[in-house]
Amino acid sequence: MNAFSLRDGQLHVEALPLTEIAAQYGTPCYVYSRRAITEAWREFAQACAGRQVLICYALKANSNLAIIDLLAREQAGFDIVSAGELRRVIAAGGSASRIVFSGVGKSTQELREALLAGVRCFNVESGAELERLNRVAGEVGRRAPVSLRVNPDVDAGTHPYISTGLRENKFGISHDEALETYRRAASLPNLEVVGIDCHIGSQITSLAPFTAALDKVLELVDRLHEQGISLHHIDLGGGLGIRYDDEEPPSRAALIHAVFERLDAHPRAAQYEALFEFGRSIVGNAGALITRVEYLKQNGERHFAIVDAGMNDLMRPALYEAWHAVQPVTPRAGPPTQFDIVGPVCESGDWLARNRTLCLAEGDLLAVMSAGAYGMAMSSNYNTRPRPPEVLVDGSRAHLIRERETIESLFALERRLPD
Ligand code: LLP
Repeated sequence: MNAFSLRDGQLHVEALPLTEIAAQYGTPCYVYSRRAITEAWREFAQACAGRQVLICYALKANSNLAIIDLLAREQAGFDIVSAGELRRVIAAGGSASRIVFSGVGKSTQELREALLAGVRCFNVESGAELERLNRVAGEVGRRAPVSLRVNPDVDAGTHPYISTGLRENKFGISHDEALETYRRAASLPNLEVVGIDCHIGSQITSLAPFTAALDKVLELVDRLHEQGISLHHIDLGGGLGIRYDDEEPPSRAALIHAVFERLDAHPRAAQYEALFEFGRSIVGNAGALITRVEYLKQNGERHFAIVDAGMNDLMRPALYEAWHAVQPVTPRAGPPTQFDIVGPVCESGDWLARNRTLCLAEGDLLAVMSAGAYGMAMSSNYNTRPRPPEVLVDGSRAHLIRERETIESLFALERRLPD
């Protein structure tokens, strides 16, 4: 579904005009559609119906408590990468027993906290982490359920910064070393080997990398089985892409079906629970960043629309040269101009969109689309800019799910020097 649509010359989210949200909460402001998130989730869930599956939501895409809460009510599992994300899930009413803990650099304190909370599984990324987890588990008197994140050496065909499945990435344990590391894991007293996982990258727009990774993982599963190491689950990570521009990613259901077609062909298929860790494909298209045009300006041949949201609010364009659609909230008639949409931050990299043909005037509202994933989650306070509020819309009702930060709060933890 598309939660954002033009009605009566006004861009709406669900049944609410974005002008109303801007009037009530100011700009810049993140806005999300409750229905779009729920429907994305249910498309995955329905495609998995009747199977042994845990679909996890990768919190890093958008970790607002209301969104976690919404997905916890849908029986989601959660993929976390820090103690901070663990506490968010608990604070939002999620259950530790449905959490997988990913990440290449979990600290001792984080391992301890997650063990005591009783997370479902640790996705371990190195031999060194395995040894540390075994030690910490011994100290707290728990057995740690582990999965090894294997690196299947598959090219996800996506931006190099978000591609993680190649041998040269820092992620996972190489395919060649996986067997040895599993043998070690099985021999350690405080660990219980329960699964295998991989995650090959993000914003993947075709099925082939997923099925190639699954084949590599299944090959390992068989070799482990031969050696007497049997697993309970296979976690294929996340990474399904969304449409920002003209991409045509497979549907959520198509991905799930392709995975099960392969899994079902496996002789011991019934033995394995399938896990997924989707982030972007659940929340990405459900959100937009509303911003207001402060100034129009021309430098040489280039026309700039300077808006009140900057790279600190939405970092993806500056960091990955990511493309986000920009829609006027109240489109106006008139001769269009080619604009670069730039923010107020003192960096040339502070742009949100380039070469967009629009008819704009000072004070106009724009919506930067597909900003629900890795938008607010990656925002910062650079230039001492308070982060925007977040609003979740349900039909014609708006819920403020995060207040705009105050300027004072930005330096409240800082101290002047003594006299
Ligand atoms: N599991 C693991 C282990 C991950 O590292 C990630 C994302 C996910 C799951 C979720 O992937 P998704 O379904 O959202 O693609 N900031 C970048 C994306 C970084 C992704 C990092 N890992 C961006 O804005 O495009």
